[in-house]
Amino acid sequence: MSKLDGKIALITGGNSGIGLATAKEFVGEGAYVFITGPRDPELAAVVKEIGRSVTGVQGDVSNLRDLDRLFAQIKRDKGRLDIVVANADGSKFASLGPPLGQITEEHFDSLFDINVKGLLFTVQKALALMPDGASIILNASILAGKGWPTSSVYSATKAVVRSFARAWTAVLKDRRIRVNAISSSFIGTPTWHVSEARRTATSEEIAEAVAFLASEDSSHITGSELFVDGGIAQEAIAKAVVFLASEDSSYITGSELFVDGLIAQV
Ligand SMILES: NC(=O)c1ccc[n+]([C@@H]2O[C@H](COP(=O)([O-])OP(=O)(O)OC[C@H]3O[C@@H](n4cnc5c(N)ncnc54)[C@H](OP(=O)(O)O)[C@@H]3O)[C@@H](O)[C@H]2O)c1
Repeated sequence: MSKLDGKIALITGGNSGIGLATAKEFVGEGAYVFITGPRDPELAAVVKEIGRSVTGVQGDVSNLRDLDRLFAQIKRDKGRLDIVVANADGSKFASLGPPLGQITEEHFDSLFDINVKGLLFTVQKALALMPDGASIILNASILAGKGWPTSSVYSATKAVVRSFARAWTAVLKDRRIRVNAISSSFIGTPTWHVSEARRTATSEEIAEAVAFLASEDSSHITGSELFVDGGIAQEAIAKAVVFLASEDSSYITGSELFVDGLIAQV
């Protein structure tokens, strides 16, 4: 028996990158998937590429009428929704956005409309179709916790997404609906490959982590943030661990080292 046998899943922004890899992974694990994307020809091509157990529904996640149309179709076709992967993202090269001083209203509105408003209403409108015990996965990013000068608006949207996972876990716990965030590092090219620990991820590696959070294998995991980043987000902690392991800390024992930017102390 496969991990997601008989499950009905929605993946927003499922026509490229991580969303597409997730759709393929889910179908391979026995699920039926609905994928969305704003552009019709691209969506149709991807539906053909996946080949089975998939429906493409064109739509913009930030448009509430499109979302109503999407959920009406899922209700009509399948009657329920076991898994929601809120993955759509309007940033393209998020790390190359304008720095403070050059941020435009259009840049701000477009990212918050898709990454925050679109994600919120996707999940909220999906709830009516979700049975107890269902799973929601929100695609966040390690950039939520990084101070990159050119990604401040994108990073802020992803910090909101991380926060939603916590609050919605509390709201949905009585229905045993789990809400988790995935924070991946950069999906890259071979030229970014520095070492096994620092290499960029592949979309397929992220998709496997999403499938884990969607499946019963993670039945006791909710409200969490799963880092799929080769250790990048934990760099400061890794440096502290090296320090404690080395002779540089030869007179330190029995201690607790806080690597938290003073949060625990003030
Ligand atoms: N790639 C990375 O390095 C990375 C790292 C950390 C986190 N993430 C997160 O992982 C998720 C997937 O990223 P990705 O790299 O796979 O991005 P991607 O290839 O650009 O995919 C984004 C998807 O969202 C769709 N989309 C854009 N605007 C939309 C809208 N208004 N309504 C519905 N769908 C819309 C896109 O459709 P079109 O192609 O037709 O525009 C595309 O299918 C995102 O949430 C991203 O923030 C990515």
